[in-house]
Amino acid sequence: MTAMQQAIEIIKDEHRSMGAVLKGLQAHVEAVREGRDKPDFPLFQAMFDYIETIPDRVHHPKEDETLFRLLRMRSHAADTILDELEGQHDVCGTLLASVRKAMGAYRESGDIAGFERSLGAYAEFLWEHMRKEEEVVMPLAAENLTSEDWETIHAAFQANRSQAW
Ligand SMILES: [Fe+2]
Repeated sequence: MTAMQQAIEIIKDEHRSMGAVLKGLQAHVEAVREGRDKPDFPLFQAMFDYIETIPDRVHHPKEDETLFRLLRMRSHAADTILDELEGQHDVCGTLLASVRKAMGAYRESGDIAGFERSLGAYAEFLWEHMRKEEEVVMPLAAENLTSEDWETIHAAFQANRSQAW
């Protein structure tokens, strides 16, 4: 595999991991709402901590610093979408904080509908964000980046593979 193929594979793989965590969270909340399960608050906390530690502090900054930065240097074709996606990276933390808040409210008042809605909106936001990265940014990157660029991106993402993905 070329550095480009490997870098794209790693990024997509990280997206899949993020997606799996979100799906797991949503499935658990749904099971609780339907009375099939009891709320596992430590599990919620652990999943939120994971999202905060890995995607928000490692994955998104790495995209900004390598893939997005290099693509901006090589072409202006992606400027608009990159502005949008970088803006979304910046608000990920705030959105997650509001999901945590909704979980706190659920814990106190039993309002699971509010928590489920907040979590659903957050998951939807991230799915759409990752979809744009994969379907819009990656083809533009494949078209415009040099093989040295891909080496740089691959090296940056490869460096974190040992972390808890
Ligand atoms: Fe991403």
